[in-house]
Amino acid sequence: MAAFKRPGELSASAFGLSFADRDVGGAAAAPIYNMNERLALTEQRRRLPIYAHRTQLLYLIEAHATTVVVGETGSGKTTQLPQYLHKAGWTGGGRMVACTQPRRVAAMTVAARVAEEMGCRLGQEVGYAIRFEDVSTPGVTRLRFCTDGVLLREMMQDPLLQKYSVIMVDEAHERSLATDVLLGLLKKVQRRRPDLRVIISSATIEAEAIASATIEAEAIARFFDTSNVRRPVGHVEALPAEGQPPSRSPALMSLEGRMHSVQVHYLETSTSNYLQSAVEAAVAIHKEDQPGDILIFLTGQDECEAAVKLLEEEGRRLQRSRLKWRLQPVALYAGLPASHQLAVFEPSPRGVRKVIAATNIAETSVTLEGIVYVIDSCFAKQRCYNPLTGLESLLIAPISKASAQQRAGRAGRVRPGHCFRLCSEDDYESKLPATTVPEMQRSDLAGTVLQLKSLGIDNIMSFEWLAPPPAETMVRALEMLHALGALDGDARLARPYGTQMAELPLDPPLARMLLASGEMGCTAEVLTVVAMLSVQSVWAPGGRRDVDDAKARFAVAEGDLISYLNVWKAWEESGRSKKWAITNYVMHRSLLRAADIRNQLQAHLRRLGIKPSSALEGASAFDQEALATVRKALAAGLFINAAKLTDELQVKLSDQDDSGASIYRLVRSAGGEAAAAKLRIHHSSVLFRCRPQWVCFYAAEQNDTGWYEMRDILAIESGWLTELAPHMYRLAPVNTQMRR
Ligand code: CDP
Ligand code: MG
Repeated sequence: MAAFKRPGELSASAFGLSFADRDVGGAAAAPIYNMNERLALTEQRRRLPIYAHRTQLLYLIEAHATTVVVGETGSGKTTQLPQYLHKAGWTGGGRMVACTQPRRVAAMTVAARVAEEMGCRLGQEVGYAIRFEDVSTPGVTRLRFCTDGVLLREMMQDPLLQKYSVIMVDEAHERSLATDVLLGLLKKVQRRRPDLRVIISSATIEAEAIASATIEAEAIARFFDTSNVRRPVGHVEALPAEGQPPSRSPALMSLEGRMHSVQVHYLETSTSNYLQSAVEAAVAIHKEDQPGDILIFLTGQDECEAAVKLLEEEGRRLQRSRLKWRLQPVALYAGLPASHQLAVFEPSPRGVRKVIAATNIAETSVTLEGIVYVIDSCFAKQRCYNPLTGLESLLIAPISKASAQQRAGRAGRVRPGHCFRLCSEDDYESKLPATTVPEMQRSDLAGTVLQLKSLGIDNIMSFEWLAPPPAETMVRALEMLHALGALDGDARLARPYGTQMAELPLDPPLARMLLASGEMGCTAEVLTVVAMLSVQSVWAPGGRRDVDDAKARFAVAEGDLISYLNVWKAWEESGRSKKWAITNYVMHRSLLRAADIRNQLQAHLRRLGIKPSSALEGASAFDQEALATVRKALAAGLFINAAKLTDELQVKLSDQDDSGASIYRLVRSAGGEAAAAKLRIHHSSVLFRCRPQWVCFYAAEQNDTGWYEMRDILAIESGWLTELAPHMYRLAPVNTQMRR
C-alpha cells in the first residue's frame, strides 16, 4: 500500500486543522477478504473470525445454559451463529432460534442477509419481526430475528418461550431498556426451563476496549450464574448426559480479533463546530487521493442531511480537479426510507468514494463495507428521562470512550484505517465518560412496569435487574400507571384497564385512549390517531415553507391530533392515492404503514371485545359535540401531560421568527422541578402560531436550549381534566384557576 501522508500534515496544510497522532495498535492480520474480489458467499463465510470457533461454540452452548460471546463487529456473531445452530439441529422438532436486536433496521437487514446466505426467501426459514411487522411464517420459520421489544411482548403470550430452543440476545453491550429487562426475565425462565439455551453476544474492539467490554461480559455472565458451586467465569463444563440439563454456570468466549490497526488522530484544540470540521476533514482526506470510503459520525438526521449538502457542494467544486475518485455523499439514520438505505449498503462503484454521514446507528448494529476513514464528532443525542418532571430530554452529549472505540473500529475492516476524533486528546480523556449509562437508568419505565406486572412479577423492586433503575423513576411509573387506571391502590394490575392495556402493543397513554374510545363510541377516530402517532413522520421532509403551507390545509385549532384525522380522511377519499400524498407533502409510505398498524390495532380491540364505533361518521363537519367526544377520548390517555398557557413574557424563538413563543406550565405540578419546567409549542406543531389556553401533548422533549418543546398537541377544555381525572386534578393547587 502506498505510504499514507501523515494526517497531521494533511489537515494542517489544508485547513489549519491539526491532528495529533496516536496509534491505538490492534492486531493487523491478513485481510478478511479483498474488496475487489467478489468471493462466493460460502467462501466469505469461511473467512469470518467466528468460523474457526464454530465447533467450540457449539460445544459450549450444548454444555452450558448460558454462553456469552464477545467479538468485534463484523466477526460473524449475528449472521453465523444462528446458522450454526440451525445446522447443528437446534431448530429440529418444530423449535426456533431467536436472535434479538435493539434496533429495527438491524433486525431487518440481518435477516435479509442470512436469508440470502441460506438461499431462501425472507419470511420462510429465516424471518424477522419488529413491532407491527412480522415477516415470518409459523411452522416454517426456524431462525427468527426480532427486536428485543418484540420478544418481551411475546413472553406475555408464551412466558417460558416454549417455541424457542435458543435465545440469542445480540448487541447486549448496547444495554437497551428491553435487552436489560429481557436478560432479567430469561434468568427466571431458565430456572423453569433448564433446557433453554441463552446466548448473549456483545461487540468489542481493540485491546483496551476488549478489557472493558469483557468486564461487562463477565458481569453479565456472573448475573447468569445460578449454579451453587462458584466457578471462575469462562470455566468449561463437560457435556450433559443424555436427557440431563446443561451446567448452570455460564461460559464465556472471546473471538480473537482480525481487525486491522486503526490510527487515531485528535485535533490540537477541540472544535466549536464539529459539523463544519467534519466536512473539512472529509474533503482533506478525499484530496489525499487514497482509496477508501469515509464514515462520519454525527448526532442526528438534520446534521447528516446538512453534511451531505455541504459535501455535495464540495464535490461539485472538485469536479475539475484531477482526483481519481468522485465524492458521493450519502446520509444514514434510523428514519431514512429503506430505498435510500440500500444505497448506503451497496459497495461503492469504481471511481467513487462514498462519504457516509451517519448517526450512531452505524456504531455497531449495521455492517458497512469499504470504510477506511472514520471522522467522529464524539457526540451523540442522548435521551434522558427526568422522573421529577416526568419529561424527557434529548440533548447532544459527549459519547463514552467505549462508543468512541467502537466507532474507530469501523475504519479497520478492510485494511489499516484512520479515525479522526474532532476533539483534543485532553478533552477526550477528561470529558468523555468511560461507558454509556444503560438505557434502563435514563428511561420512563411505565410501559416496562406494566409488562412486568402482567407477567406476574408483582414486586418490581425486588426484580433482578442487571442495573437497578433509580427509585424515583419506579415510583413515578407506578404513579402514572395508577393515574391511568392500570394499577389499583395496592399497585396490582387493575381489571379491566391494566390487563387490557398490557395486551396492547402501545405506550400506556396510547393504550388508555384506545380503551376510552371504546367507551365513548369513537374507536374509528382514535385508532386513526394512534396509528398516525406510531409511524415515524406523516409530513414529508424538505422545503419547510412548502410543507408548512401543505400542513396549513389540514390544520385545525383543536391541534395536531385532530389535524391527523383530516389528513387521513382526505387520503382515504383520494382512494389512498400516492399522487395525492405527493402533492400534499404527506409521506405516502407513512400513511400506508399507519393503515397497516390501524388494522392490527383494530384486531386487538376485537380480541378485547371492544366494538367498533365512530363519532364523526355521518356527523356534520361542524358538529362540535361529536368532535369533543373524540378529543375527550384522546385526552383520557394524555391528561397527565396537561399544560396551561401562562401570561409570562413571550420569547422570540430566533431572529427570523416573528411569532415568539408562549410559555406553558404543567398543570399537575404542585411545585419543585416540574413546576419550574417551561414548555413551548414545537415549530412542527400546527398550533405553533396559536395560543390555546389548555393543551395535552403526547411528547415533549427538552432540547439544547433548555426549553421543553411539545409535539403532537391536542387543545382541550380545562373542565375535562377534572372530569376525566378527578383523582389527579381535584386536589391540585391549580384547581381554583381551572374552574374560573
Ligand atoms: O454480528 P457481527 O458484528 O459479529 O458480524 P455479522 O453482522 O454477522 O457480519 C459478518 C459479516 O457478514 C460482515 O463482515 C459482512 O461482511 C457480512 N454482512 C453483510 O455483508 N451484510 C449484512 N447485512 C450483514 C453482514
Ligand atoms: Mg452483530
